[in-house]
Amino acid sequence: KYLQEFDLTLECKHLISSLPTERGWITDRFYRYQGFWHSLRQIQAVLPCQHHFQAQDTDILLVTTPKSGTTWLKAIVFALMNRFRYNDYTDDNKSTTTLCSQRTLTIFGTHLPLVSLPDSVKNSPCKLVYLCRNPKDTFVSLWHFSNKLRSKGKDMGTLSLTDCFDQFTRGVSVYGPYWDHVLGYWKASFENPERVLFLKYEEMKQQPKVELMKLARFLGRPFSLEEETNGAVDGILKLCSFENLSNLEVNKTGQISATGFDYNTFYRQGKVGDAENYLSPQMIEKLDQVTEEKFQGYVLKF
Ligand code: A3P
Repeated sequence: KYLQEFDLTLECKHLISSLPTERGWITDRFYRYQGFWHSLRQIQAVLPCQHHFQAQDTDILLVTTPKSGTTWLKAIVFALMNRFRYNDYTDDNKSTTTLCSQRTLTIFGTHLPLVSLPDSVKNSPCKLVYLCRNPKDTFVSLWHFSNKLRSKGKDMGTLSLTDCFDQFTRGVSVYGPYWDHVLGYWKASFENPERVLFLKYEEMKQQPKVELMKLARFLGRPFSLEEETNGAVDGILKLCSFENLSNLEVNKTGQISATGFDYNTFYRQGKVGDAENYLSPQMIEKLDQVTEEKFQGYVLKF
């Protein structure tokens, strides 16, 4: 569905006629809107979202750049916030419906950069959890993902790693520049630590219990001593582990209804450092150098 043609609204047509463009990875073109690169479909979706989305105080927004572990974060936060309702930590396919109808607690996922969030989000006390991942693994994961989606299209061919790398380092990737995306939320987490929590994929991998407990405190649902001793923290981590999620039948065979993406495209390796298997030493040096320059002056390291 994502690759199919669709009608543009007048507003979107008008807007894109003035936007800079670059070669896209999955669809034909990227358009630069509010300083970040988007597909046409995203631009068309973001406009009504900016005009009409009404954040509520109890909403939780999970924000990532694509391929930073969005799927993992969504599973963890859902399990965390609903642990008193489904405390046997098993998969329950009724849960999404229940969640949507319960607007007192709604968990949203978005890749939007901070500048493009609807005003109602900026002005509400709702909480934002930002998860980022080191740029090398993010890039390689994105390149794999884009090629997987292209293989579903007609005669789309494979994206060359070097062409994509060149664009990525220039900031041209979906919701990129990657560094600007990360920095926007990094600064916000310092300015407003009650509202924005900044997490790293690598730290979640390295010390999952510590990070999960931090997340629970931030979301106002800390684990009690009793829960800590009865295995609630480990239970959620196990439920949301790569091994468990990727082996669920729904994730092996299901599709996202809105986009038609197979769920299994969101599970590949789930490891830290896999980029070293794809990038040459020169590419690694280049990406490290760009990252150092962009993050200069910020205590932000990978
Ligand atoms: P790799 O391609 O490096 O394996 P997103 O959910 O933002 O699209 O990110 C996808 C990346 O997160 C993929 O990385 C995927 O394998 C990894 N991932 C998915 N589920 C995960 C989990 N439960 N734990 C750790 N990583 C996970």
